[in-house]
Amino acid sequence: MSDLMPILGYDAIEFYVGNARQAAHYYRTAFGFDAVAYTGPEHGVRDRCSYVLEQGGIRFVMTAGLTADSDIVRHQAAHGDGVKDVAFSVPNAEQAFALAVERGATALAEPWVEEDEFGKVVRASILAYGETIHTFVDRSNYSGDYLPGYKPTRHQQPAEPTGLRLIDHVVCNVELGSMDRWAKYYADILGFTQLHHFDDEAISTEYTALMSKVLWDGEGRIKLPINEPADGKKKSQIEEYLDFYGVAGVQHMALATDDIVTTVRQMRNNGVRFLSTPSSYYDDLRSRLDWSTIDADVETLAELGILVDQDDEGYLLQIFTKSVQDRPTVFYEVIERHGSRGFGVGNFKALFEAIERDQAERGNL
Ligand code: FE2
Repeated sequence: MSDLMPILGYDAIEFYVGNARQAAHYYRTAFGFDAVAYTGPEHGVRDRCSYVLEQGGIRFVMTAGLTADSDIVRHQAAHGDGVKDVAFSVPNAEQAFALAVERGATALAEPWVEEDEFGKVVRASILAYGETIHTFVDRSNYSGDYLPGYKPTRHQQPAEPTGLRLIDHVVCNVELGSMDRWAKYYADILGFTQLHHFDDEAISTEYTALMSKVLWDGEGRIKLPINEPADGKKKSQIEEYLDFYGVAGVQHMALATDDIVTTVRQMRNNGVRFLSTPSSYYDDLRSRLDWSTIDADVETLAELGILVDQDDEGYLLQIFTKSVQDRPTVFYEVIERHGSRGFGVGNFKALFEAIERDQAERGNL
């Protein structure tokens, strides 16, 4: 077992998208993120635009390429809009990079320093699953908005926040037969341990199956579930993802809130589309769970389509959006935890059946 690499949390999730200005607008008006910083041609960057969005402790960056020969444009053509970089905040980027490479990570960018009047940021990147990367970021000596070269966004009213507070977990889909290899990667390189393991018995419907391992830092700052398709009668949602994304990549991010009812109601009003839950789910729920310890109203949950799961440690409320871009790839989970450190295993069947209804509509089941 390797020693745990010191990681403070997620620094940012950077997306490569086809139109960063419009993506930023969507996350602002639909998800309630503030647009805080920007870089692009106006600030001397010739080949791309990046918009930095923040809400609570969550930071997203929407980046688009501006020229046909741009690697960002090529990435977007190959995969559609998707997550390029799951960046980690670390106390020392040089050390994190050296340790990761020594432990077997593929080096992508040696440590580099950027400076402006607000101080300096040190970054270094390694390759992860598919074309996704992890950048180690040390911003302990920086007081600017995001990175040198970025300027505060002008002419933006603050967004109306929806209560999203932090990134709870970041899930990847990997190719058939490679879940264990990626679980070992995070164990070897970051020193993570396995929090959960779901086999295809636990995660199957009449048609499809998948397996999942959750790697984490032992404290809960970083949780990385890894999904792999398993044999089923029809095409699994993981295979559909891999067909459209082309390689392994980020499938969904769970964003935590302290008040899921308010958050989801507002996101729905803002036009975010969620997976639907049949009313039979809520009939079953009344008898399946111990309601003496759950502070939630079933009528309200049913109205909004929010799911509940319970284990020895407590309970959680969760809901899943539909894909947020044209390809059936990246989606979100909104989660409110009360003690439970689980992932809603009791809801997997209902969730997958909801995804399958959408897959069938797309002609991909
Ligand atoms: Fe999740």
